[in-house]
Amino acid sequence: MTMVDPELQPTLLPTLGGETYVDPAYFVREQDRIFEQMWFCAIRSDDIVEPGNFRTVQIGRESVLISRNRKGGVTAFFNICRHRGATLCTEASGTVRRNFQCPYHAWTYDLDGKLIAAPNLIDMPMIDRVEYGLRKVHVREWLGYVWVCVAEDAPSFEDTVQGDVRERLGGVGAIDSYDMDSLALGRRIVYDVKANWKLIVENFMECYHCATIHPELTEVLPEFADGMAAQTYVGHGAEFGSDIAGFTVDGSHGFDALDGVSEDRDRRYYAITIRPTVFVNLVPDHVIIHRMFPMAVDRTVVECDWLYAPGVVADPTNAATMDKSVELFHRVNEQDFEACERCQPAMSSRMYRDGGVLVPAEHHIRVFHDWVGSRVAGPTQ
Ligand code: FES
Ligand SMILES: [Fe+2]
Repeated sequence: MTMVDPELQPTLLPTLGGETYVDPAYFVREQDRIFEQMWFCAIRSDDIVEPGNFRTVQIGRESVLISRNRKGGVTAFFNICRHRGATLCTEASGTVRRNFQCPYHAWTYDLDGKLIAAPNLIDMPMIDRVEYGLRKVHVREWLGYVWVCVAEDAPSFEDTVQGDVRERLGGVGAIDSYDMDSLALGRRIVYDVKANWKLIVENFMECYHCATIHPELTEVLPEFADGMAAQTYVGHGAEFGSDIAGFTVDGSHGFDALDGVSEDRDRRYYAITIRPTVFVNLVPDHVIIHRMFPMAVDRTVVECDWLYAPGVVADPTNAATMDKSVELFHRVNEQDFEACERCQPAMSSRMYRDGGVLVPAEHHIRVFHDWVGSRVAGPTQ
C-alpha cells in the first residue's frame, strides 16, 4: 500500500500469529469491527434490474436484502421481519411482484420497506407503518456496484473506499476512466474457498508467488516473474510482454481497449485492493472484480465478475475470444485459492503459533496486518 524499497529493508518482518486465521472468537471481532462497520461491496447493480428483483448477501453476521423499488432506486434492508424476527427472504436471489411478505405471520412490506399489511391489524391506525417498516442500511452505488454499510454511522465513502483507490492509483479519476458503471457482465464465477479471508487478501497483495504458481500470468506480465507486486508502487501498472497481444490465457488478442482507456494504460495491468473485501483488476479491454464474503473463520466465498463493453458481451461471435479472456484470470484464481487452502490447515499448528515472515517484496502486507490489528483492537459500534 505504501511504497517500500526492498533494497532499503533487507529484513524479514513477522506475520500475524496463526490463531488469527483459525480462532472463531477473533473472526467474530473482525465481523464486528471490520465487515459490520465498513462499506462492503455487495452486488453488481445490474443483478437487480427490474422493480422487485432482489438479492440477499451476508455481511459479517448480518443478512442484508437488496432490491430495486418502483422508482428504479436501490434499497437495502436488514433481512429481518420487524414482527418477531423471522428471516424475510431465504433465497439468495429472486423477484417479488409488489412486496415482501414474511412467511411466518404474513407481515407485508412494500419495496421501500414500509409495512403495508399485518393480519388482524386492520387499518393499523395506531401503528406507524414506517417506524415498523424494514430497517434500512446505508447504501451507495459506485463503479456499477451496490455498496452497503450495516453500521449505524457509516464511515466516509470518500475517505475509505475511494481513499484506497486514490492511495493505489494516485487518484480516483484513473478508475473512472474505465467507466465500470457502463460495462456489462461477461462472466461470473463463484469460488468457495476453504481459507480465512486474510490469506486471500495477503495473497492478492504480493507477487512473490507469481513465478511459482502462475505460469500463464507471468507469460503475459513478465515483470511479475521478479516477484515484485505492482501494488507496491503508487500508480504503477505491470506492462504486457513485448510479444503479448492481449490479456488472454495464451497472450492472443482480446478485444479493443475500452473507450476511456488512455494510450499509456493500453498495455498495462493494475491491481487495487479496496479494504476489506474487494479486488479490482484493470486491463485495457476488461475489468475483473472480486468480492469476498467471509462466511466463517476458515471459509470465504469469492464472487468474481469479468466486465466488458456491452457490445462485446452482446455479440455471440465473441464467445471464443471471451473464453480465452476469462480463462486467464480464472486460472489465476484457482492457483491462488489452492495456495490459500494449502496454508489454512497449517494456521492451527503449534509450530505456526507466532506466525511466519514477510520477505522484502511482501513488506507492504505488514501495513494490512497492522490495519487489521488496530481495527480488531478498536471500539465496537
Ligand atoms: S415474524 Fe414475520 S410476520 Fe411474524
Ligand atoms: Fe496470485
